[in-house]
Amino acid sequence: SSRTFWVGGNWKMNGSVAAIKELTNTFNAGNVSSDVEVVIGAPFVYVHLLSETLRKDWAVAGENCYVKASGAYTGEISPEMLKDVGAKWVIVGHSERRNILNESDEFTAEKCVKALAAGLKVSLCVGELLEEREAGITQQVVERQLGAVVKALKEEDWANIVIAYEPVWAIGTGKVATPEQAQETHAAIREYLKTAVSPKVAAETRIVYGGSVNAKNCKEAAQKPDVDGFLVGGASLKPEFLDIVNAAQ
Ligand code: G3H
Repeated sequence: SSRTFWVGGNWKMNGSVAAIKELTNTFNAGNVSSDVEVVIGAPFVYVHLLSETLRKDWAVAGENCYVKASGAYTGEISPEMLKDVGAKWVIVGHSERRNILNESDEFTAEKCVKALAAGLKVSLCVGELLEEREAGITQQVVERQLGAVVKALKEEDWANIVIAYEPVWAIGTGKVATPEQAQETHAAIREYLKTAVSPKVAAETRIVYGGSVNAKNCKEAAQKPDVDGFLVGGASLKPEFLDIVNAAQ
């Protein structure tokens, strides 16, 4: 397909100046395919360091952002600030923000709008809780999360969005979704985009999988037609991330 394979790392609240320097050296020396778009999400305080030191064929992401450019919002970081220190991307709507920080679908959608307006690309995360999967409402949950964003964006905005499907029960648990489970939900998301946005956006938007991806399980999932890459947590803090970047090769 025309969808360039996309692999994101999400370091979450991990790292230190020393650890990041070491990992960056490893990544910079890695032999990876040029057919893959690679993005590394770092804690805010390390975004500048990473954007100055990371190989230039990879991009840096913030892991979150606020919905204003500047002002009296103590402790928040704007998309404009992320851009100023070298980020090209921002992760929006991660399940840890939705579930631990109680961020709503609408707030998440507003972050997408403001990040895009500031010139950042967005890795938009969606995914169901274990009890939602067990109740058989995975698709409803994902469509509700996406629906808020669909409502807030214009069709052309989708060129700068990558959707990360991350079932919450698979995140950090070692319990990876099967390639078939990922494919099934990705295909359903694409079908949803066809009617909710347009057939063009459905065909062109990258839908990547996240949740306990590692060097061993990535190869098979990468072969599925609607799996356009990965968003990787734990394994993005290790040299094996390079193998995941090369998963589709
Ligand atoms: O954003 C990344 C996901 O939350 C996956 O995390 O690979 O540690 O399961 P994980």
